[in-house]
Amino acid sequence: MRRRLSYLICVMCVVLGFVACAEAEAELKLGFYDKTCPKAETIIADYVKKHIPNAPTVAATLLRTHFHDCFVRGCDASILINSTKNNEAEKDSAPDVTLRGYDFIDRVKSLVEEECPGVVSCADIIALVARDAVGVIGGPYWEVPTGRRDGRISNKTEALNEIPGPQFNFSRLKASFASKGLDLKDLAVLSGAHTIGIAHCNSFNKRLYNFSGKGDNVLDEDPSLDPFYAANLRKNKCKTPTDNTSIAEMDPGSFLTFDIDYYRNLLKRRGLFQSDAALLTNSVTKSYVVELLDGPLETFFKEFAVSMVKMGKIQVKTGTEGEIRKNCAVINS
Ligand code: HEM
Ligand SMILES: *[C@@H]1O[C@H](CO)[C@@H](O)[C@H](O)[C@H]1NC(C)=O
Ligand SMILES: *[C@@H]1O[C@H](CO)[C@@H](O)[C@H](O)[C@H]1NC(C)=O
Ligand SMILES: *[C@@H]1O[C@H](CO)[C@@H](O)[C@H](O)[C@H]1NC(C)=O
Ligand SMILES: *[C@@H]1O[C@H](CO)[C@@H](O)[C@H](O)[C@H]1NC(C)=O
Ligand SMILES: *[C@@H]1O[C@H](CO)[C@@H](O)[C@H](O)[C@H]1NC(C)=O
Repeated sequence: MRRRLSYLICVMCVVLGFVACAEAEAELKLGFYDKTCPKAETIIADYVKKHIPNAPTVAATLLRTHFHDCFVRGCDASILINSTKNNEAEKDSAPDVTLRGYDFIDRVKSLVEEECPGVVSCADIIALVARDAVGVIGGPYWEVPTGRRDGRISNKTEALNEIPGPQFNFSRLKASFASKGLDLKDLAVLSGAHTIGIAHCNSFNKRLYNFSGKGDNVLDEDPSLDPFYAANLRKNKCKTPTDNTSIAEMDPGSFLTFDIDYYRNLLKRRGLFQSDAALLTNSVTKSYVVELLDGPLETFFKEFAVSMVKMGKIQVKTGTEGEIRKNCAVINS
């Protein structure tokens, strides 16, 4: 009896050891599809190179899509799932309704499916497309380890709860990033993504009108915003406090170029969101901003690449978790 028990324990240890081993192996790695779909990364890169130059503003939304995907249930393409009769998906949450790259990603997915059906995850496609799009507009390049699996849950409320808002102050930003394993350096560096793209007026109108909430004085604006810049935005961009359709460039003058002007504007108190301005309210993030601006540009590129790889690993599903979705907009039945 004794002997049999110890035998059993021994067998169990071996089995558990295997399981532990398999789990440890199930990590992202470079070239995950080298054997199973060797052309995948080239197909993706070629599509991006061909189409982004005709629609350069899409690069920004693709980068933002990767961020929003990773912050909700990890980088698992839950952001691409359509709502159904019984489920309100992330796509329909307030932070995500301004994303514009879903068709682009779906087209890439069909090309990759033609080459190797059911092999390449939508989550990896998001990560690769974001990297390649930033590259095409002259931004940094980073290696994307692959092997992410797609999630089967997409919940609108979770997107609302997990994605940091433009009204966030420093402590909320810090907590939000920390909850995803990202530190203050990542916060300062990744905010630099706002060197490209646009924002709708309702993302920052509060700073231009009735900021204190005390009255209807149009000059009651966010004191952390350059008053001349605020006046300019009211005059030329967001003419009423309830405008939610007009847009403004986040880095005016070079909103299609991946450069360090975002940080230059930020230090001039011309960051568009309270969350941008908040980086100056903490000595650690403020000194990162100053350092990044001191340059050279390659430093920002290098740091951005490092933080993007880190962001791309948030709570990823690997191995046999999740699935490889056939159509990025619907979970496999
Ligand atoms: C630090 C917290 C962040 C907050 C509060 C924030 C908030 C926002 C908001 C409100 C917009 C404008 C959306 C609109 O009105 O259309 C925006 C745009 C954008 N964000 Fe962020 N963001 C943050 C971090 C990031 C990160 C980490 C990335 C990517 C690495 C990123 C990339 C972008 C890009 C590229 C755009 C422009 C999108 C476009 O042109 O359509 N943001 N962000
Ligand atoms: C998902 O929703 C979008 C926008 O409503 C629609 O264009 C697309 O066809 C849908 N995809 C699927 C597979 O239902
Ligand atoms: C979605 O997430 C919220 C917040 O975590 C939760 O309360 C709700 O039950 C979830 N909805 C579904 C359908 O799972
Ligand atoms: C940041 O915002 C939160 C929520 O609005 C608030 O509770 C907190 O006091 C604020 N922190 C600072 C330092 O202003
Ligand atoms: C200003 O904001 C406060 C608080 O949100 C609100 O009660 C008031 O009606 C607003 N005034 C105007 C003119 O929008
Ligand atoms: C914009 O405002 C209009 C009118 O106030 C409202 O019907 C619409 O839902 C708003 N759109 C967004 C995206 O908030």
